[in-house]
Amino acid sequence: MKPHYAHKSLKLLKALEPLNSKPLVDRIYDEILVGGQSFTPATAEAHQPAVELLGELMNVHAEFEAEAGQLQDMFGEYLEGSMQTNQENGQFFTPMSAVRMMIQCMLPDSEEKLLEKPLWICDPACGTGRFMLGVAEHFNRVLECGYFNFCIVNVDVDRRAAIYCTMNAILNQIPSITIWGNSLSLEIYDAFAVLPGHAWPWIRVAKGRARELLTKALESSKKPTEEIEQQAAPTPVPKAVQPKKLVQMTFGEAGA
Ligand SMILES: C[S@@+](CC[C@H](N)C(=O)[O-])C[C@H]1O[C@@H](n2cnc3c(N)ncnc32)[C@H](O)[C@@H]1O
Repeated sequence: MKPHYAHKSLKLLKALEPLNSKPLVDRIYDEILVGGQSFTPATAEAHQPAVELLGELMNVHAEFEAEAGQLQDMFGEYLEGSMQTNQENGQFFTPMSAVRMMIQCMLPDSEEKLLEKPLWICDPACGTGRFMLGVAEHFNRVLECGYFNFCIVNVDVDRRAAIYCTMNAILNQIPSITIWGNSLSLEIYDAFAVLPGHAWPWIRVAKGRARELLTKALESSKKPTEEIEQQAAPTPVPKAVQPKKLVQMTFGEAGA
C-alpha cells in the first residue's frame, strides 16, 4: 500500500530512508542518540554523518511545524502514514485532540499552580510521546513563555516508538527521560534524558538510574489512596428502589 501522509512535509522524512537503506530509526539510534555520546570537538569529523542527519531532521521538523503547528507528533504521524505502527501489539496513537482533552482534565489551568512545584509525570506506554507533547503544549498555552516546569518519564517496550519519542523530545526541547523498556516488569533496555538548554542536550542514562527515576515518576503520578477511594465509592441506592429480598449466592452454590 502507498503511504498516505496527513502533512506533506512527512514525505521529506520518508526521503531520509530510501528503499534498501538502513532504517531511519536505526540511524537515529546509532548515529545520533548513542553515537552522539562520544562527540567532542576533536572527534567532530568522525561525527559528520550524525551532524548532517540531525540537521536534516531539524529542517524536516521546521517544515512540519510550519504545516501542523507547534508540538505536534511528527514521528507518530510518519509511522501511521507509512503503516509502520506495531499493530500486532495493539499500537495506535491517540489523536491530539483527545490527548488535549485528557490533559485539560488532569493538569491545573492556572499559571500559579503550574509554577508551584516541578511536576514529575509518567507515561508508561508512551508510543511516540503524544502525551509528552500534549503536556508541553498545555504549559506553553497557560504560561505563554515556553517554560516547562515538569519532567516526564516516557516508557515504551517497542524500540522504534522509544527512539522516535526521544527524537520528538530533542526536536521540541522537552525535559524528559525516555525509556525503552517494560513498565510492568521494570526491565530497562536503554534510556535517554533530554535536558533542554544544555550544550549537549541529551544523555544516555544508566539502567539502574532509569529504573529509579521510573519508580519515582510512577509514584508521584499516583493519586493519594483516599482520593481514589472517595472517587470510587458507589453512590448509595435510595431505599425506595432497593430490592426487598436479596438472593445470596456463594461460588459453591452456582448452578445448584
Ligand atoms: C495504544 S499505544 C498508545 C501510545 C500513546 N500513549 C498514545 O496514546 O498515543 C500503547 C503503547 O504501549 C506500548 N506498550 C505495551 N505494553 C507495554 C509495556 N508493558 N511497557 C511499556 N510499553 C508498553 C506499546 O508498544 C504501544 O506503543
